[in-house]
Formats: sequence, structure tokens, C-alpha cells
Amino acid sequence: MTSGCHGGAGLDRGAYTIFKRFDPHADASATLTNGRSKAMARQLGIENAAESKSCTICHSPMLHVAPFGLAAPLEGHAVESGVSCASCHGPAENWLLSHTRPDYPKDALARLGMRPLGSAYQRANSCVACHQNLSDELENAKHPALTFELDGLLVAEPKHWREEKGFSSAQTWLVGQAVALRETAAQARREPGERRTAEIEAIRALLKATGAGWDDSAKDLVRSADDYAKRISGAPMSQEQSRAILSKLTGNRAPFQADAFSAVALDYRWWSVGYYAERLTLGIDRLNQSFVASGQQRVIPKNPLDELFDAAKPPESFDAATADEFVRRLDRVAKSQLEAEEGR
Ligand code: HEC
Ligand code: HEC
Ligand code: HEC
Repeated sequence: MTSGCHGGAGLDRGAYTIFKRFDPHADASATLTNGRSKAMARQLGIENAAESKSCTICHSPMLHVAPFGLAAPLEGHAVESGVSCASCHGPAENWLLSHTRPDYPKDALARLGMRPLGSAYQRANSCVACHQNLSDELENAKHPALTFELDGLLVAEPKHWREEKGFSSAQTWLVGQAVALRETAAQARREPGERRTAEIEAIRALLKATGAGWDDSAKDLVRSADDYAKRISGAPMSQEQSRAILSKLTGNRAPFQADAFSAVALDYRWWSVGYYAERLTLGIDRLNQSFVASGQQRVIPKNPLDELFDAAKPPESFDAATADEFVRRLDRVAKSQLEAEEGR
């Protein structure tokens, strides 16, 4: 990698430097040799996690495709272990040279295989493949649970790009949830199970609770979630819309009522409540954040929000008492939101 490409200092030149130094993806293949991975591999009867497709498919996907063949002069582009540039941007062999010309049209680059990542929908499709779809086998082997939340992931990833004006955390969050629903519903077709149903019903309840036009009566969940994600991603989201969604979410108690999640087997209804609570908390946080990014004040102060995070226990540990405590703290969040709105 030469400092003339993405290896220099500053945002425009530093994508590679930022990635290598700070991005967790750069070390994703090293993870496969740590103690936790070894324990997982033992349980799965895998000899070496770092070489098993069950793991490398997400932790080091380039192990399975032919190298770019341009390794010598542009060696930085040939990172083959870990999650590399091509995992998100698409394989580069056809656009590597053209993409350095500032006049080269983006849609032409897209035709050469450079995946467009500008919209929330495009990004969701890129990230979700590795950030939501965990097989039963891996879940049972105690791989950390994957809860896809697009906006939080984008914030947590050290940025090697600048967001356009008009970027909305609220919109990004909502698109991410719809795509999480699509993926979970698609996976349930391959691997049905009560736990997955519990998660699907929780995300549906969340989309419904936003009051943002989700039609919950659709028969084909995979398709309707995809259509919805595209639609939300396609139009800008105003501050008023974000504020309205936030109020709906903090005001909704339906998922905590006794008759909630009746489509889920009795033994798994608390899981649904837990999944809902977890995603609701992340959502409130992202919506709240979307005001800060546009120069406005947070609507919900830090303390009650931190307390809500503390009350969002892992879904498998939810029961009547955890749900009660969660609702009490949600009440406090709603109250502080109201006070903040009145004081404005
Ligand atoms: C090819 C698979 C793959 C793709 C595509 C991918 N990731 Fe990841 N990501 C991983 C793996 C594997 C890890 C875990 C790294 C580790 O610790 O070993 C990870 C970890 C992360 C982390 C740190 C852990 C966390 O949950 O906070 C962030 C942030 C992240 N990814 C953001 C993103 C974003 C944003 C996108 C899309 C633009 C994305 N990833 C696309 C595989 C992927
Ligand atoms: C569907 C994609 C996917 C597959 C398949 C997958 N992982 Fe992961 N893994 C991830 C992501 C994403 C993270 C980051 C989770 C987070 O931090 O939120 C992660 C995190 C981890 C972590 C915790 C991070 C750390 O630093 O300790 C370990 C350990 C791990 N994976 C090992 C494995 C092993 C071993 C396998 C194969 C048996 C495997 N993974 C298969 C996506 C995957
Ligand atoms: C986890 C996914 C992910 C990985 C891995 C990744 N990027 Fe990116 N990259 C993105 C996203 C998302 C954007 C924002 C694209 C946009 O807004 O159009 C981006 C933007 C960029 C941009 C700015 C382009 C533009 O049109 O604004 C450059 C340059 C870039 N990446 C280079 C790299 C390089 C070089 C690597 C490998 C060292 C890399 N990226 C790895 C997700 C990723």
C-alpha cells in the first residue's frame, strides 16, 4: 500500500490506515485462534476454527476466493485474512484501476463490481450477512448472539468515510430493523424453531410500534420486510418523523401485556419480550442520537437511558420480574422525554 492510495493520513487518504489500525474487522481472523474459538471448535468437532468454513465464511471470507492477482504493486488491497475491503466493497479486480479516476461515474463502477454503499438499504445488505445470520449449530456452541442494529454498527466501526449531509441515524436504524426481520424470517425457512419465531415476532412488534407505515398483515414476511426497508431507505426522514417514532416507541406497552406474542409457543413468550426490550433500547438510543447529529439536543437524558440499558437483560433470562423492572424504567424514559419536550 502506498501513501498515495488509501494509506496516508487524513480521512480522504486514510481508509486503509484507519482500517488496519482501528477496525475490528482487520483482526477478525485472529479471533479464530483465541481461547473462546478453540472451545467452540471443540464443541463442534472442528479441528481448526481458523481453517473451517463454518467460521471463516464471516471471519475471513477472502480465504475462499481467488486472490486479486494484483498483489505486488497494490499489496494493501490484497489483505486476505480477516474481513477485508472486498467483503464490503465487492471484489476489486475489475474496478481497482478505474476507481482512482475522480471523473469515473459511480454507476459504471457498480457495473464493474464495486458495490454501492451510500444508502442505508445498501449498507444493511452488506453488513447483515455476517451480523445477523447465526445458525442453530453456532448458537448452541455459544457463539456470541448477533443482534443486527445497523446504525450502532456503523457508528462503532471506525469511520474511513464521511457521511453525506442529510444522513439520519433514525432512518438507518429503521432500515436496519426491517432488514434484520427479512433475514431472520428467511433463516426461519431454512432452520425453523421457536426461538427464531420469538425473535421474528419481537421485531414485527417493534416495527408495528414505530407507527411508521409497517403493514403487519403481509403474508410473505421476507418480501414485505425487504420492500419496507427499501421504501424507508428511499425517502429522507425528517426530524419530525424521527421524533414521532421515538414517542410512539417510548409510549408503547402492548408487548408487555399478558396477551402479547400469542403467536409464540408459551415457553418462548418471555424470549419475545426480551428480544423486544433489547431492540427497543437500542432503537431509542439511535433515535435519540439522531437529534444530536443534526445539532439539536438529546430528547432523553443520559441517566434514564443508561438505566434502561441495564434493565435490557439477555432475552433468554427474561421473566415477569425482569419485564416489570424494564417497564418501570421505560416509564421513566417516557417521563423524561415528556419533560424535555415541554422544556424546549
Ligand atoms: C464478511 C463478513 C462481515 C461483513 C460483510 C461485515 N462485518 Fe462487521 N464483523 C464481522 C466479524 C467476523 C466481526 C467480529 C470481529 C472479531 O472480533 O473477531 C465483526 C465486527 C464488527 C464490529 C465490532 C463488533 C461490534 O459488534 O460492535 C463492528 C462495529 C462491525 N463489525 C461493523 C460492520 C458494519 C457497519 C458492516 C457493514 C458496512 C460490517 N460490519 C460488515 C464480519 C463482517
Ligand atoms: C454469520 C457470521 C459468523 C459466523 C459464521 C461466525 N462468526 Fe464469530 N462473530 C461474528 C460477528 C459479527 C462477531 C462480532 C459479534 C459482536 O461483537 O457483536 C463474532 C464474534 C466472535 C467471537 C467473539 C469475539 C472475540 O474477540 O472473542 C468469537 C470468539 C467468534 N466470533 C468465533 C467464531 C468461531 C469459532 C466461528 C466458527 C465456529 C464463528 N465465530 C463463526 C460473525 C460470525
Ligand atoms: C465493514 C465494511 C467495510 C469495509 C471492510 C471497508 N469499507 Fe470502505 N466503506 C464502507 C462504507 C459503508 C463506506 C461509505 C460508502 C458511501 O457512503 O458511499 C465506505 C467508504 C469508503 C471510501 C470512500 C468512498 C466514497 O465513495 O465515499 C473509501 C475510499 C473506502 N471505503 C476504502 C476502503 C478500503 C481501502 C478498505 C479496506 C482497507 C475498506 N474501505 C474496507 C464500508 C467498508
